[in-house]
Amino acid sequence: MRGAASALDYRELARRRLPPFLFEYIDGGSYAEVTLRRNIADLEDIALRQRVLTDVSTLDLTTELFGQKLKLPVALAPVGLAGMNARRGEVQAARAAEAAGIPFCLSTVSACPLSEVTSAVQAPIWFQLYMIRDRGFMRELLAQARGAGCSTLVFTVDMPVPGSRYRDYHSGLAGASGFAGTMRRVWQGMTHPRWAWDVGIHGRPHQLGNVAPVLGKNTGLEDFFAWMRNNFDPTVSWRDLDFIRSEWSGPLVIKGILDKDDAIAAADIGAEGIVVSNHGGRQLDGVPSTARALPPIADAVGDRLTVLADGGVRSGLDVVRMLALGANGVLLGRAWAYALAAAGEQGVSHMLRLVEAEMRVAMALTSCRSVREIGRNALVDFDR
Ligand SMILES: Cc1cc2nc3c(=O)[nH]c(=O)nc-3n(C[C@H](O)[C@H](O)[C@H](O)COP(=O)(O)O)c2cc1C
Repeated sequence: MRGAASALDYRELARRRLPPFLFEYIDGGSYAEVTLRRNIADLEDIALRQRVLTDVSTLDLTTELFGQKLKLPVALAPVGLAGMNARRGEVQAARAAEAAGIPFCLSTVSACPLSEVTSAVQAPIWFQLYMIRDRGFMRELLAQARGAGCSTLVFTVDMPVPGSRYRDYHSGLAGASGFAGTMRRVWQGMTHPRWAWDVGIHGRPHQLGNVAPVLGKNTGLEDFFAWMRNNFDPTVSWRDLDFIRSEWSGPLVIKGILDKDDAIAAADIGAEGIVVSNHGGRQLDGVPSTARALPPIADAVGDRLTVLADGGVRSGLDVVRMLALGANGVLLGRAWAYALAAAGEQGVSHMLRLVEAEMRVAMALTSCRSVREIGRNALVDFDR
């Protein structure tokens, strides 16, 4: 892809391509963004252990997650509103994931509805769900996910209340209400003509596909945020997992675990997997990076459930680092959102090829010939 030689380049391309209110929404974290920075810095800080002269002519990057064979130990994380970054964006990203042989996870608050995405790909996708006050609506969404052939449910538990994302106020995504707010966003769109043409004009309808039925005619961004504030359920507790279980018989993955005791509770209720995640530093600022949180969690529950991790993963080296710290698989969040914004499906495909190539180098030089062989043996001075 012209202009991008690494996944990080896509961030800069996305910054140029997107209206600021959309770029800052992807790029930003909560409050002072301490955790957002920690995710990246702590992961970068993990030193890989170089080993040589071990014949690494054959490398196996495949793995299996929840009964699904993957070409890479990677999945695309749920990213809300991603469909606004490129025309029918979630469809493009799901196609790129399918071509790369990895799962795509659709957010509850995607632009494209479930049926649009699942009818564009053959491979089963994963579906992410938040706890919503209206259990009847949750039932409907789960039935849709089942009907559309989604293979795995990712139940996100770290958003009983939304984090304070101040960048969204500065950029005009939130806070700037009414006519003035709309005009500010329209102006940003008009001054980014490639986006205006691709998404603004040809990417319609601009709505949250899965929640459109309950939002009705209220399709503005402010309506969306108001819906989230009023409908995400802060009473959510472990007891609600019974409800989810009764409506979903497939693999259940609890996303947003950062503490060993919560990981043990997830194993106790019989979840198939967890995602060690702090929502990419978008919820409680000040919590540890996932690179720091992961090892004790993997040690505590790694033999009872599948441990996935995300947060700050921007390269194949980072994927190897997460696996070495104890993850069985890694979710990419911003990495795919930037690539999608910069270059659509081709951008996401290219980013995934970069991740694969970087993984190959890291595996070869840490002497790990297969994903299974990547463990703490691949790290220098691991003492956390
Ligand atoms: C713009 C944006 C929107 C997100 N929306 C959701 C969402 O709808 N549901 C969810 O479970 N996580 C959501 N996340 C969190 C991601 O799934 C993932 O945990 C996070 O992006 C990982 O950090 P990274 O972006 O640094 O890789 C979102 C993240 C971003 C950046």
